[in-house]
Amino acid sequence: MRILNASGCLDALAAPEVARELDAFVTKTVTPLPREGSAPPRIAETAQGMLNAIGLANPGRERFLGEHLPRLHELGVSLWVSVGGFCADDYAETCSRLADIEAIELNLSCPNVDEAAHSAAEIVSACRRATELPLYAKLSAAHPDVADVARAVAAAGADGLSLINTLRAVALDKELRPVLARGSGGLSGPALKPIALYAVGVCQEATGLPIVGMGGIQNGRDALEFAACGARDVALGTVLFADPGAPARVRAELATACADAAVATPDDARTLAKSPETERKVPA
Ligand SMILES: Cc1cc2nc3c(=O)[nH]c(=O)nc-3n(C[C@H](O)[C@H](O)[C@H](O)COP(=O)(O)O)c2cc1C
Repeated sequence: MRILNASGCLDALAAPEVARELDAFVTKTVTPLPREGSAPPRIAETAQGMLNAIGLANPGRERFLGEHLPRLHELGVSLWVSVGGFCADDYAETCSRLADIEAIELNLSCPNVDEAAHSAAEIVSACRRATELPLYAKLSAAHPDVADVARAVAAAGADGLSLINTLRAVALDKELRPVLARGSGGLSGPALKPIALYAVGVCQEATGLPIVGMGGIQNGRDALEFAACGARDVALGTVLFADPGAPARVRAELATACADAAVATPDDARTLAKSPETERKVPA
């Protein structure tokens, strides 16, 4: 099992020592044009997790390719680039311009921008024609049948899935007004874990694709649970804001969690969860 960061939750150029602890670094989502993102306040803490409405603030494709990506290469860490846009051509154009990276993650699920005009499968199809790099489709669990979307993007040529993005949510202040200037935002953190485990389980069953699982992972035991549900790799998001040492810590804890669960490797947790001899069940 490899440990990545969740897109948007680590600035590798500001914290290279944290990025170097990861098995691969995933960039913040890059859109064709620069975006300032939503007006502040755009982050709120709730009792259940963190709410953000960053709104895909990023330098835009040209500056990312010309300035940021060369500096990221100098870190010597495997790179994934998260690609966003507002129509299939936006995504495909960025994909066609990328080379010398390990994979592309297509952000098909940002809750802080208006819905993409094209369906997830159409976007994946266009990107498939534009690049031979591995394509991971990042999906939202807000869809009534996430496994159906997973099947559609798999048929369109996705090589893997990233699950899950934040879920749209609201937090109110003392005067009962939304805390975030945008009104709603994306909820992340521990509250997402059960939802993410479900999405990983059903999408793995539906597609058999490799999955990067994320959503509320805080420790090695959480990572092992994602493996048990079918994730090959995991990504750390909100936890990185509180604990930049999380990648090394979670990796060490994962070994202990495996020993406690009497499995040799995280992949064996999946085998155990699927074995008819065990009472453990994952969603089918
Ligand atoms: C501040 C913040 C910014 C994020 N920005 C992005 C982004 O640019 N692209 C994306 O695909 N996901 C983005 N996400 C979602 C995370 O990558 C991840 O899917 C989500 O937070 C669930 O994981 P977690 O509970 O471990 O944080 C962002 C999350 C947070 C908290």
